[in-house]
Amino acid sequence: MKLFVYHTPELTPSDRTADCAIAIDVLRATSTIATALHVGAEAVQAFSDLDKLMQVSEDWPAEKRLRAGERGGSKVTGCDLGNSPLDCTPELMAGKRLFITTTNGTRALQCIQACPVVLTAALINRQAIVEYVLKQQPETLWLVGSGWEGSFSLEDTVCAGAIASALMTQANCTLEDLAGNDETISAIALYRQWQNNLLELLHHASHGQRLLRLDGQEDLKYCAQTDILDIVPIQKSPGVLVSLKAL
Ligand code: MLT
Repeated sequence: MKLFVYHTPELTPSDRTADCAIAIDVLRATSTIATALHVGAEAVQAFSDLDKLMQVSEDWPAEKRLRAGERGGSKVTGCDLGNSPLDCTPELMAGKRLFITTTNGTRALQCIQACPVVLTAALINRQAIVEYVLKQQPETLWLVGSGWEGSFSLEDTVCAGAIASALMTQANCTLEDLAGNDETISAIALYRQWQNNLLELLHHASHGQRLLRLDGQEDLKYCAQTDILDIVPIQKSPGVLVSLKAL
């Protein structure tokens, strides 16, 4: 297996695909997707475009849908929810389809949509993703950070490093065996430096600071936890993610 980390959708190759590609948006889209599926959402359908989300979700029974919209960290007017994973309660989500659009995370998903296997990962479901990858043994694996409007983000790269580091340990392989590009090596180094202080790292991150200005302390605390959810969100059809257990 060769693992390639790409810091943003813009840096991800568009002329080829990987056997398995994983979108990462720790703050907060992929933390929200993992949580929604964990508490019983039927599926999460992701859109980069808000108008398209409104149009497609209109054809879904109103009592079986929720619309989540985020731009710049804030909730989009007209949606039921913003992008806080803490809003994903079993009472609200069970049996419903969550239609979601966010500033960067949903764009990351879109750029890997054509890969044969597409997953989403966050720190909270890192080990479930690692176990899936170890079982499937894809020849090429991409970890794609969402970044922020084309720029690198600490939280996505540290999560890529957390996945890569666990793969190395659990597959008992060397950095040379696993790393397909230099970004993978730097992501592992970032994770190994911060693994015991992930919440502090999220506080340093520019999007972490943006969310703190918007009163998002509790979201940061939640998203900084590792391996708390046993859930693998997997693409069933373009843009539609379900729990692997429901496939
Ligand atoms: C994004 O897609 O950029 C994020 O998930 C933004 C957020 O809601 O924190």
